[in-house]
Amino acid sequence: METVTRDRYARSREMLARAAQSLTGGVSSPFRAKAPVPLFFADGHGSRLRDVDGNEYIDYALAWGPLILGHKHPELVAAMERQAARPHNYGAQHALEMEVSERVQRMVPCAERVAFTSSGSEAVAAVWRLARAFTGRHRILRFEGHYHGWHDAELISYRPPTDRMGPADAPCPTLDSRGQVPNSVDNAVVAPWNDIEALERIFAKYGREIAAVVTEPVLCNSGCLMPDSAFLSALDRIPREHGALLIFDEVITGFRMSTGGAQQHFGITPDLASFGKAIAGGVTLSAFAGRKEIMEGMLSGVAYGGTFNGNPIAMGAAQATLDVLAADDGVALKHANRMGELLQSGIAAAARELEIPLRITGFGAAFSLHFTPLESLRNYRDTLADDKDRLNRFLCAALDEGLYLLPDGRIYVSAVHTEQDVDATVAAVRRGLASSRPSSSNP
Ligand SMILES: Cc1ncc(COP(=O)(O)O)c(C=O)c1O
Repeated sequence: METVTRDRYARSREMLARAAQSLTGGVSSPFRAKAPVPLFFADGHGSRLRDVDGNEYIDYALAWGPLILGHKHPELVAAMERQAARPHNYGAQHALEMEVSERVQRMVPCAERVAFTSSGSEAVAAVWRLARAFTGRHRILRFEGHYHGWHDAELISYRPPTDRMGPADAPCPTLDSRGQVPNSVDNAVVAPWNDIEALERIFAKYGREIAAVVTEPVLCNSGCLMPDSAFLSALDRIPREHGALLIFDEVITGFRMSTGGAQQHFGITPDLASFGKAIAGGVTLSAFAGRKEIMEGMLSGVAYGGTFNGNPIAMGAAQATLDVLAADDGVALKHANRMGELLQSGIAAAARELEIPLRITGFGAAFSLHFTPLESLRNYRDTLADDKDRLNRFLCAALDEGLYLLPDGRIYVSAVHTEQDVDATVAAVRRGLASSRPSSSNP
């Protein structure tokens, strides 16, 4: 008898074909064009997602991070319902705006002043402009493999081509997009991450031109790599010795790593920081914050704007999300991080038993899987040894097993993932790891 294999993603394929006739490429961000097919979703609840073919998933993508309270959290839904019946945008001041900025001020160590934008890319742009205005310098020192948004000035050396990236200890700044203004690189200096000597060398050479050093405090966009504590201390010291500022791009770590972000977790207070994603639990909002005298540059000629800044819908969502996160001494995020740590130890044990060379890097609520021969990963170039084919095979197997992960092997955990989710996930990962072995080692 002939075996008929059902295509689990048939309806998504059909919808993609139709969408591509109007929506360019059929997706709203090319980052989402993932194998085996970009899925179309019908619903989600808590930690679970359902696609248009009726497949159910445990969601570890969380909309690329924002859904720190999962899908349809009751307090977020109630806040949205309240706001839906009220004016959606005043383009002017209202009480919620002030209440949310006060809340951010209480939660985030560097937040003497706060401002809102819609996207993280805008928040980053505003922060860098403030830093340049404050110091009167133009260069931003940034690190290879870090992502700070897609604007011309921001998208430098995120995924540098290997034939043009230059030596490991002195990377060449590279453009990441066709059509990018070529001289964007002139305002950048690129350094390898977790390398104190390189940082010192670059400051010795360009010290008086550098307005600020910007870092993802955990390198989430290139495999969730952790900073060495000595490197963090050097970041806290060297820029200041040269009259430059320290900026944390906390678009991912903010309201995820701890209620006060990575800066609270590591005990290092930057001069400025950008936030996004989790701040409003999945509703469009980003923010930036920092020292009063720098932030108030916008009162004396540093341009910043945005039609949707501080709109009541986003502010209502942020208030509900931050209220949940701040309650009971931050128990929600402690839970998310604990679930992530349990997952990591379960996945590591499964890989060990199956004798699969898998490294897990990151912190509880954001971590990555690396199929790599390396014992430790400290910067972007270390991730180039990852076996990407094997990761892709694993991701496709995991999807078939009902796990929705990001295409780079990153796993986000929310405050509503449960121990049952963890157990089911570890069992599914074990099956996924076994079935994605290279065929020579598959019985
Ligand atoms: C660290 C970091 N900075 C900035 C951004 C840009 O944020 P957005 O996509 O909201 O523009 C991102 C997005 O993923 C990010 O991860």
